[in-house]
Amino acid sequence: MSEDLKRHAAAKAVEDVRPGMRLGLGTGSTARHFVDLLGAKVAAGFEVICVPTSEVTARQALGLNIPLSDLETLGQLDLTVDGADEIDHDFNLIKGGGGALLREKIVAAASASMIVIADSTKLVETLGRFPLPIEVNRFGLAATRHAVEAVMAAHGAEDGLKLRGADAGEPFVTDGGHLILDAFFGRISQPEALSRDLLDIPGVVQHGLFLNMCSKAYVAAPDGVKTLIK
Ligand code: A5P
Repeated sequence: MSEDLKRHAAAKAVEDVRPGMRLGLGTGSTARHFVDLLGAKVAAGFEVICVPTSEVTARQALGLNIPLSDLETLGQLDLTVDGADEIDHDFNLIKGGGGALLREKIVAAASASMIVIADSTKLVETLGRFPLPIEVNRFGLAATRHAVEAVMAAHGAEDGLKLRGADAGEPFVTDGGHLILDAFFGRISQPEALSRDLLDIPGVVQHGLFLNMCSKAYVAAPDGVKTLIK
């Protein structure tokens, strides 16, 4: 059922893709449906050129013969379509549940617009129930972790910090070769201030707060797909 909802949202976003567009391809289970549907259009002769936000998406797109390029070649993109872990009423997002947040943010920032596709469980009053992914350099991990914990305390975090994958014995490593700390805030009341405070920590490469980047969302529920526009 949930996969059906994700696919319905993805199908709406495919309708927004115009021939010749330079397109950012997101990462995750919802974006995967978008790439599948786009692949079907490309197979039927539709022309686009795409920049993937992860190695996983790149492999999927290549398998579907979707033409790929990079930001060096294309410069600005027309549109990025991606999933999200949380979406609030101001269209601010938490992303990075799949670990691709750094490339996702670089690609979204290089795009004239960003459409988020999701099922309605991703809509929240306030960001923070989903743990905020923070991509960090391996060097000085302990120092970075302490600094992140101090920022979390200053922002009233309700719970702790986990190195992604550590429970399974091996930390998760991003496409950029970095690690991810998942920060359990519970509630993020000042996302802009939190964003600045995290980026001030030298070992923090990027975080999963996507603020003022998205202007449209297709949100699927059992009674249909809603179009939300900022
Ligand atoms: C990938 O790093 C993430 O930002 C995903 O876009 C996000 O986690 C949403 O993923 P799902 O579509 O799988 O829920």
